[in-house]
Amino acid sequence: MTDRRQFIQQAGLLAAAAATGSLMPSIARAQTAKLRVGMMLPYTGTYASLGTAITQGFNLAVEENGGMLGGRAIDFFTVDDESEPSKATDNANKLVQRDKVDLLVGTVHSGVVMAMVKVARDNGTLLIIPNAGANAATGGQCAPNIFRTSFSNWQPAHPMGKVMYERGHRKAVTLTWKYGAGEESIESFKEGFTKLGGSIVKEMYLPFPNVEFQPFITEIASLKPDAVFVFFAGGGAVKFTKDYAAAGLKDKIPLYGSGFLTDGTLEAQGASAQGLLTTLHYGDGIENAKNKLFRYNYGKKYGVQADVYAVQGYDAALLLHGGLNAVKGSFGDRKALYSAMEKVKIDSPRGPWTMSKAHNPIQDIYLRRVEGNANQVIGVAWKALEDPARGCKMSAA
Ligand code: PHB
Repeated sequence: MTDRRQFIQQAGLLAAAAATGSLMPSIARAQTAKLRVGMMLPYTGTYASLGTAITQGFNLAVEENGGMLGGRAIDFFTVDDESEPSKATDNANKLVQRDKVDLLVGTVHSGVVMAMVKVARDNGTLLIIPNAGANAATGGQCAPNIFRTSFSNWQPAHPMGKVMYERGHRKAVTLTWKYGAGEESIESFKEGFTKLGGSIVKEMYLPFPNVEFQPFITEIASLKPDAVFVFFAGGGAVKFTKDYAAAGLKDKIPLYGSGFLTDGTLEAQGASAQGLLTTLHYGDGIENAKNKLFRYNYGKKYGVQADVYAVQGYDAALLLHGGLNAVKGSFGDRKALYSAMEKVKIDSPRGPWTMSKAHNPIQDIYLRRVEGNANQVIGVAWKALEDPARGCKMSAA
């Protein structure tokens, strides 16, 4: 129909038109642009392995969906937040203002996430929290654009009060890092334990992320409580169970915790964690087809065992995928996107869960026992536990 020169000219015009989008209606153009995902997670420090597992879980879900979420290819923008609250606002702003991300995914540390919550609220940016449990994120500071795929700090600790009381313990000592997640976990455990008649002999704290546990362990030995409840995670959890066992207390004063104490840490903890009982919304040996497949695929891709953090990252990607699919990949109508995200049914390795009105999972909390390199589920400590979402007033999107 044309000579070669004309053809090349026309092809060039077509390509230019496609690039500027003038051949496509604007909505369609928006959906073919890459999704800009801002990952703000710790890749150094005591929570480094947690940030890595979340990232890997997220990436596995992307890979399983053909390299896309909600039909959109992805550009990742990544920041190492170092679990450092003093840098958190700047880090989140870099992603939102400089990189112009469509959404933020993060983070692990409760103090850092509260800065992200503020940035998300101020800018109307979608925030998906794949770990940090700060109660206020889905409590007093809840918002239509803030979703969590993990837990509130209240959730996994609360059932342990009942578990410990039913195991005959009446006097407990608590120990944790003095920051949001530690304080809120202890408060929640205390609420469950004292309501039944248990009492707290002493609450002990050390600054995050210190691991000089010796003076505390010495004091626990002299106080001789029936049991000890702690919140520690990541590198600090490894050091703590080892120090506790080395001091000879493991078989004398039973140690309990929310399940972060033994999640993603078992290889490093070795004998010091064997037999420990913890409560959490995940367990390695959960008997469902999804969990088995997830653990197999994760192990194959990354050469390490999946843990709770990997599951939360995986579910964060699936939440976004499900929500975006329902609105044909568009960020245009936020109300429609958020309402779809509220209803997404996620086929999670932890088992089915639903999103509460405050945007936090309503989920089973399992009782687990460490056996070898696994947190085996030995029961359900609390069925379909919903965070009380104290102070949450959801405004319009
Ligand atoms: C938190 O800071 O919210 C936090 C950190 C690590 C965990 C759990 C909660 O394993």
